[in-house]
Amino acid sequence: MDTIVVLDFGSQYSHLICRRIREANVYCELLPYNTPARVLKEIKPKGIIFSGGPASVYSKDSPKPDKKVFQLGFPILGICYGHQIIIDNFGGKIKKTIGREYGRADLVIDDKSDLFGSMDNKIKCWMSHGDTAEKLPEGFKILAHTRNSFSAAIGNRKKKFYGIQFHPEVAHTQKGTEILMNFSQNISRAKPDWNMESFIELTIKHLRSVIGNDRVLCAVSGGIDSTTLAALLHRAIGDNLLCVFVNHGLLREDEESLVVNLFKRQLGIKVIYIDASKQFLQRLKGVDEPERKRKIIGEEFANVFVDIAKKNGPLQWLAQGTLYPDVIESGVSKGPAVVIKTHHNVGGLPKWLNLKVIEPLSSLYKDEVRKVAKLLCVPDELLKRHPYPGPGLAVRIIGEVTDEKIRIVKYASKIVEDELTAAGLYDKVWQAYAAVGDDRAVGVLGDERVYGHIVIIRVIESLDAMTADWTRLPYDLIEKISNRITNEIEDVTWVTYAVSSKPPATIEPQ
Ligand code: XMP
Repeated sequence: MDTIVVLDFGSQYSHLICRRIREANVYCELLPYNTPARVLKEIKPKGIIFSGGPASVYSKDSPKPDKKVFQLGFPILGICYGHQIIIDNFGGKIKKTIGREYGRADLVIDDKSDLFGSMDNKIKCWMSHGDTAEKLPEGFKILAHTRNSFSAAIGNRKKKFYGIQFHPEVAHTQKGTEILMNFSQNISRAKPDWNMESFIELTIKHLRSVIGNDRVLCAVSGGIDSTTLAALLHRAIGDNLLCVFVNHGLLREDEESLVVNLFKRQLGIKVIYIDASKQFLQRLKGVDEPERKRKIIGEEFANVFVDIAKKNGPLQWLAQGTLYPDVIESGVSKGPAVVIKTHHNVGGLPKWLNLKVIEPLSSLYKDEVRKVAKLLCVPDELLKRHPYPGPGLAVRIIGEVTDEKIRIVKYASKIVEDELTAAGLYDKVWQAYAAVGDDRAVGVLGDERVYGHIVIIRVIESLDAMTADWTRLPYDLIEKISNRITNEIEDVTWVTYAVSSKPPATIEPQ
């Protein structure tokens, strides 16, 4: 399949470049900035994009690509820092600007022959840079400029190297997707043959050839990722798939019966139900550090898997519903990225587990998984459910996991979900839940003073969980949810609404 590779120099927007290109049906992969030229040669991408990044090309330890990348003959597009790398590499000059250029700027297009083909003379673009070009290298022509950047876009047509100072991947740049399409499909000639039908076909073939007659263990949670994973594997290997549902005691209300029944009735997949809540909750006693909680849950899942493999074996594989953002956020795929959270399904399994791991969805974004699920006839009851984290309520309970907090957060989340459904808003938001911590606040119940829990409601909108914004719910609805929570749940006196976006916050509090 024709591929575009994005080399990641540490910009927050690197993954967005990848998304935009895939949205235009070209397969795109994000790789570390220092991926060796020989690896790229093997991948044979149709074109390479250098992302932006926070460094300055002239500082000592700034990330640079393998020099030989420029000799591979692939078209290259540099964005922001990537643009400056190209200028610097070919003998141009980069200098610090007096004031950082940040925000919207008018881009005047001087040359409409390729990168800006069929565009107006002027478009709005998004700038975010502290360095700028002072002198261009030989062979490069100016394609567009802004008031502050005389060379906001440049190109060397002979070599097919292009550089743009602005960010086409963010929504604030008009025609940004078209610019990326012009690079990937017209200049690089990548065929737009990436779609979810072809993904399913190729993946089933791949799974059959890798797995052969082996048996695969797949833990399902009822979430979209593990459900899609199970449906895909079932198509590929039929009864050699063993699905289990592990109750870790940190589930949403009535989750277990809903999931097991839907799998059986609607997908024709048998699921073994295992109640391991006692062993998970026992190990979480006294633990309040978020990463530690995630690690313990990951380990306990591994213990349960070993038991299952002993009882139902032999099993050779463990399937995991890891997605592309999990891979990126866990810092597995790239160079300069910081690990934000250890998602328990990425790299968290001990070696002694003795099962090979297979992650067929690890190149997909969430919205792509939804499309795959629909094509595999996953029922709406599962498809439309909000994403739910593997470690469950443990990441929505701030501090130690206790029976009291589980009781509160489980019921409060049900109220949030039920009220959103009644208001016709459940399907319009990405996630909606309640969280609880150790903070308490004084309230009055009847005539009594109660020093009760504070429940946090979080309702967010997102496209892919990489960024998120809080939902502006109607005040009446927030009030109704708040009243129900304080009236119906014992020992809750206050309700707050979380109004932090991601970034800087994350979606789950732990
Ligand atoms: P954060 O909190 O990292 O969440 O902004 C991003 C998305 O991932 C979900 N999430 C997880 N999913 N295992 C999962 O399968 C995990 O450990 C995990 N932690 C967070 C979260 O619900 C949100 O949709």
